[in-house]
Amino acid sequence: MSLNTDFPIGVFDSGVGGLTVLKALTHKFPHENFLYLGDTARLPYGSKSPQTIRKYTQQALSFLIERKVKALVIACNSASSQFPEKEYRGICVETVIEPGSLMALKATQNNRIGVLGTRATVQSHAYEKVLKQLSEEQGHTQGLEVFSEAAPLFVPLAEEGWSDDPITNLIAFRYVQPLVQKQVDTIILGCTHYPILQASIQKAAGASITLIDSGQAVAESLQAKFDSGIIPLRPSTSSERHIQLLSTDLSSQFEMLSRQILAPAIPSGFEFVEI
Ligand code: DGL
Repeated sequence: MSLNTDFPIGVFDSGVGGLTVLKALTHKFPHENFLYLGDTARLPYGSKSPQTIRKYTQQALSFLIERKVKALVIACNSASSQFPEKEYRGICVETVIEPGSLMALKATQNNRIGVLGTRATVQSHAYEKVLKQLSEEQGHTQGLEVFSEAAPLFVPLAEEGWSDDPITNLIAFRYVQPLVQKQVDTIILGCTHYPILQASIQKAAGASITLIDSGQAVAESLQAKFDSGIIPLRPSTSSERHIQLLSTDLSSQFEMLSRQILAPAIPSGFEFVEI
């Protein structure tokens, strides 16, 4: 399939969480077009079965491919944990798990890494597997310890935009304490909704724990794919870029949060779609 440089990068999440990844991408690639799909009608994914999550993910990716994209980013950990493929229908696929794991391995000093995620992500053990595999590839055959906690209440709090609220702080404390007790020095925010609550999570973890937000990590990984020519780069002399946001249940809350999260980037338009 010939890929036009003007084709957008398709970014997919169950809701607004993936916008934290999109924000990092819009910043890193100022000339690229983006097409974001939030499957808000079927959110949350994190409490669903692996089979359902994989089916929804394939539907969303197929939908984006029909709209002509030059690369796909699964900006949802729950979906990424059920979709290890690096390619779908001839289009390259980037997920959040490997880039976030690489960043965590770089950050940890004591080899004790915590993962906060949805139930689906935690039960898939995707982070443990990838972290151990990458650590072995880097020659560290022993010593890495990974501790995971499911934090399902974070998703509705993020969708509400309760980013630094006393209730969020209390819930964050409850989820993060078990990881603090395991003496982790790095926590992967293993759900793209969680960076929206970063202030509360950092308060609960304490300043000495490094939080890993996969948005930045995904941007680095995509850069490598542009550099090696796997994804064609849109020239800097191109006309103004577009950031189009699609959702399966358009609401004023989605629009409001999208504008807030993406700032200073400005969405070009919103569209309701059925996938
Ligand atoms: N943003 C999704 C993730 O990264 C979680 C939200 C959901 O449960 O749908 O896993």
